[in-house]
Amino acid sequence: MSYYLVLSLLLNAVTAVELVGDSTGTIPAKFPPYLGGQSPWFPGPNVNHISPEPPEGCSVDMAAFTSRHSSRYPDPGSYEQWVALQSKIQNASFTAHGPLSFISDWKTALRHPDQEISQISIGGYKELYDMGVTYRLRYPDMYSDNQPFYVWANQYQTNQPRVIDSARLFVRGFVGPNATTDGSVYVLNNTDPRGIANSLAPSDICPTYMDTSGGSFATEWANIYLPPIVDRANALTSPKGAVNFTASDVSNFPVLCGYESQITGRTSPWCGTFTEPELKQFEYAQDIRYYYGSGPGALKNDTFMLPFLAAVVQRFMDGPNKTYTSSDGTKFTPPPLIGTFTNDGQINQLASTIGVFDDQAPLPANHIPPRQKYIASRYVTMRGTIGFERLNCKGKQYMRTLLNDAVYPVVGCDSGPGCSCPLNEYAQLVARKQKEAGNFVDVCFGAAAHAAVNGTAKTTFLTDLALPWERKVVP
Ligand SMILES: *[C@@H]1O[C@H](CO)[C@@H](O)[C@H](O)[C@H]1NC(C)=O
Ligand SMILES: *[C@@H]1O[C@H](CO)[C@@H](O)[C@H](O)[C@H]1NC(C)=O
Ligand SMILES: *[C@@H]1O[C@H](CO)[C@@H](O)[C@H](O)[C@H]1NC(C)=O
Ligand SMILES: *[C@@H]1O[C@H](CO)[C@@H](O)[C@H](O)[C@H]1NC(C)=O
Ligand SMILES: *[C@@H]1O[C@H](CO)[C@@H](O)[C@H](O)[C@H]1NC(C)=O
Ligand SMILES: *[C@@H]1O[C@H](CO)[C@@H](O)[C@H](O)[C@H]1NC(C)=O
Ligand SMILES: *[C@@H]1O[C@H](CO)[C@@H](O)[C@H](O)[C@H]1NC(C)=O
Repeated sequence: MSYYLVLSLLLNAVTAVELVGDSTGTIPAKFPPYLGGQSPWFPGPNVNHISPEPPEGCSVDMAAFTSRHSSRYPDPGSYEQWVALQSKIQNASFTAHGPLSFISDWKTALRHPDQEISQISIGGYKELYDMGVTYRLRYPDMYSDNQPFYVWANQYQTNQPRVIDSARLFVRGFVGPNATTDGSVYVLNNTDPRGIANSLAPSDICPTYMDTSGGSFATEWANIYLPPIVDRANALTSPKGAVNFTASDVSNFPVLCGYESQITGRTSPWCGTFTEPELKQFEYAQDIRYYYGSGPGALKNDTFMLPFLAAVVQRFMDGPNKTYTSSDGTKFTPPPLIGTFTNDGQINQLASTIGVFDDQAPLPANHIPPRQKYIASRYVTMRGTIGFERLNCKGKQYMRTLLNDAVYPVVGCDSGPGCSCPLNEYAQLVARKQKEAGNFVDVCFGAAAHAAVNGTAKTTFLTDLALPWERKVVP
């Protein structure tokens, strides 16, 4: 019997849940693969059974990726909820049993909350260094030592450098010891009015953009799946109900599982508090949250990354050797690996429009559908990554998309090697989607707003390194 078989039998016997993590690219601890946007990164399962190696007779001569920042500490609102849960538990008199027996002396995992809140975590550092190294090894011809290398990052909120820091750590892993001299991160201000459609979070300046987090769909599903888990948790204390866990408390258990595991580098005891079917119900709540919040079920809230997608496709059409001229007159030939970093809303918007989910029926609010393809845990994890590869197959160009390293064919465009899409057909598909979405400025400001917009509603930052709302940061 192989080591891995023994290990997996052992884990199955202990937990019944097939855990992921503790490997290259991941945090050094195992966790269940059902945590949606709260999940540390793990390689997506190969649900489409397509090898991630380049198809026979093809080589990857350009690649692009758009990643969420890595695993991080909680934002202030989540942290307050954890502290409230801790004090609620400590105030109660009870004995806890089974998977909850650890809670009487549980404390939140933050050691210096004032320094840690909202920053990327140590587990997140590993995700990013490993990612940099992995990409350098995956695409060895896309960079050689002593050359300039750069990626782009969303500014996100002032004084919240988690996206910029993620890009910096990636560049350190990718470029190596000279990263601080050879590498750079171009940071795009997402709230500068001149950056209409020309940043890594265009929806942040669109008054029409509203992420409802799933609204009534999310509430309906929460009211179905949480009450039985609340009852089960309350029955694990004696006296029964002594802590009086609420639905909101219980919905935090899987969140704590993900965060504590990446913060401490050890599997959190909260990971054992949900059964596998319950974890899948939590995961579905995350799917609904994104599908109806900023995804295919959110009217045009998912269209704001289309200009960016069109710019990536244009770079692929131009090929790896094209020289561009920035608006200050400087000429440059960008690296053939186009790296960009942003936040979960933008990752979800982009994933929702690249064409891989076009055959996903709307997600029902009252049950988990069979054959569901749109699953947040598989691409909008921390460090969740949407990848694009330009395939050069005997002089013909194709492209394919990868979600957390797993290949997803574009619906209606998979006639190329390894179910890839002929590049020119993909360009047409993206142009059609832009047309269907309508004029960016009108969608962003509302047709009646008559916004006095200066600047072009087009993404140019990939081919112009001198935009006035962009600054350069050292990795
Ligand atoms: C815990 O008890 C303290 C002191 O009685 C009280 O101030 C606090 O509000 C309680 N916290 C919770 C979450 O019940
Ligand atoms: C780092 O920079 C030094 C000085 O420019 C150079 O000699 C060396 O080859 C570089 N090392 C790598 C790994 O790029
Ligand atoms: C981004 O642009 C906004 C609006 O012009 C400005 O208030 C803010 O200071 C800028 N942020 C940074 C980090 O430059
Ligand atoms: C349990 O918590 C709920 C919600 O906060 C509250 O309405 C209820 O009174 C509490 N029950 C007990 C027994 O404390
Ligand atoms: C975003 O969703 C909100 C809430 O459903 C809706 O009011 C708004 O019109 C949507 N915006 C766009 C651009 O579709
Ligand atoms: C780009 O330039 C390199 C080096 O000159 C060359 O080997 C490669 O074939 C070129 N690629 C394309 C697609 O033109
Ligand atoms: C657009 O540019 C004009 C002319 O430079 C200027 O007067 C106007 O204030 C600008 N509008 C915005 C929204 O930036």
